[in-house]
Amino acid sequence: MNPKLSVNINKIATLRNARGGNNPDVVKTAIDCQRFGAEGITVHPRPDERHIRYSDVYALKSAVHTEFNIEGYPSESFLKLVEEIKPEQVTLVPDPPEVLTSNNGWDTLTHLHFLKETVARLHENQIRVSIFLNPDPAMVEGAANCGTDRIELYTEHYAKNYAQNPADAIRPYILTANEALQCKLGINAGHDLDLTNLHYLRIHLPGLLEVSIGHALVCDALYFGLENTIQMYKSRLLRDMNF
Ligand code: PXP
Repeated sequence: MNPKLSVNINKIATLRNARGGNNPDVVKTAIDCQRFGAEGITVHPRPDERHIRYSDVYALKSAVHTEFNIEGYPSESFLKLVEEIKPEQVTLVPDPPEVLTSNNGWDTLTHLHFLKETVARLHENQIRVSIFLNPDPAMVEGAANCGTDRIELYTEHYAKNYAQNPADAIRPYILTANEALQCKLGINAGHDLDLTNLHYLRIHLPGLLEVSIGHALVCDALYFGLENTIQMYKSRLLRDMNF
């Protein structure tokens, strides 16, 4: 099975919000991404609603017929939202409200109790849970003890170091993924993945189930168009592919 491509459409909302109208329309974009081959749609509603708004998440509920993945810090308002929407997956990220984008994984040892309660609450609602983690095998056992189904590996460091030395860049991710597989956790990955670094990750990271990609994919769509771009990203997720 090839890893699924979940398109993060936050940037579409950022563009829309720049002018105050409904262009581009995030619901239409989600429908089109799926039509063009995306196997999931990801959104990250933040408390200040600077890109995806809570109202977008309600509007997207009936438009997403692939896998709906909602990311965010599990505040009470976030948890109430996802309990109403009941997406296939919630990805828990530890980012404080003021940060520009997610910039760290969970410390699953310090926050074990909180994460465990949160995961149990989401499971009561039949929602699969993924926990955003740095590439640190020491954090995996904590994640497993929280009862999570999956981890999402935070790939910013991989992406940053890939050009210099891909093998070095991916090493801590392989160690962390192997630990996750031992703990019977599923593996997702995301952040700063793009057309140049995605295939190497797909080939070398054991057990990769899903990637969520936003920024680079939307930037590439300016040049290649959304449909071509989604197909280009999907081709990087095939094991053997000449491109
Ligand atoms: N995963 C998480 C937890 C994120 O916060 C983001 C950015 O919203 C992504 C994946 C996607 O990152 P990018 O936009 O760099 O592809």
